[in-house]
Amino acid sequence: MENEEIPDQLQQVIRVAQGFYSRKDRAHDFEHALRVREWGKKLALEEGADVTVIELAALLHDIGRSGTVEKTHAESSASLAVNILHKTGYAEDIILRVKEAIVSHSREAGHEPNTLEAKILYDADKLDFVGAIGLGRLFTLAGVEGWPLVGENSCETFYQEKICGYQKHLFTKAAMVYFKPMFLYMEGFWQELNAERLKISLSGQASSV
Ligand SMILES: [Fe+2]
Ligand SMILES: [Fe+2]
Repeated sequence: MENEEIPDQLQQVIRVAQGFYSRKDRAHDFEHALRVREWGKKLALEEGADVTVIELAALLHDIGRSGTVEKTHAESSASLAVNILHKTGYAEDIILRVKEAIVSHSREAGHEPNTLEAKILYDADKLDFVGAIGLGRLFTLAGVEGWPLVGENSCETFYQEKICGYQKHLFTKAAMVYFKPMFLYMEGFWQELNAERLKISLSGQASSV
């Protein structure tokens, strides 16, 4: 990665993006954007999509987050991205395609990913919420949001309501293949966690007899 020749325009975008992400929660930091970029490039190559559009969209897709879970961050990230890409001199058609991808990477604001690049950004973002990295991000987010491990409005409900839902809503075949084993790893984690909780509650009952 370090030895790759990075064009000046892209370097400028990376620098600006880094500044935005330094103010975000750790589940949505610059490292998240970099991992989404790598997933995005991998999916773009496998699905035959435009790598430049995916790369720019991935780097900028969460810059508009306020630091908490909210519904319109995709729209604010898209407008900020348009300004940054204009200032760095990208062509209008690239800017429009990046905007389209960013605006629909989260379906909470009601935008569906329609272009191949938008579908790939959506899938790449979800691939960063499964597996060991996904668990790490979930607990990091829980620290910001104040979620308990289990119970109402918890890490477990976020997993069940959001992350479990992603597997039914991925758009590309390539992402489905990568998603499956990482999702099974997460499933195993929750099974183990619930087995441990059961063990504690059973031993508690035994000692109180
Ligand atoms: Fe996002
Ligand atoms: Fe994201």
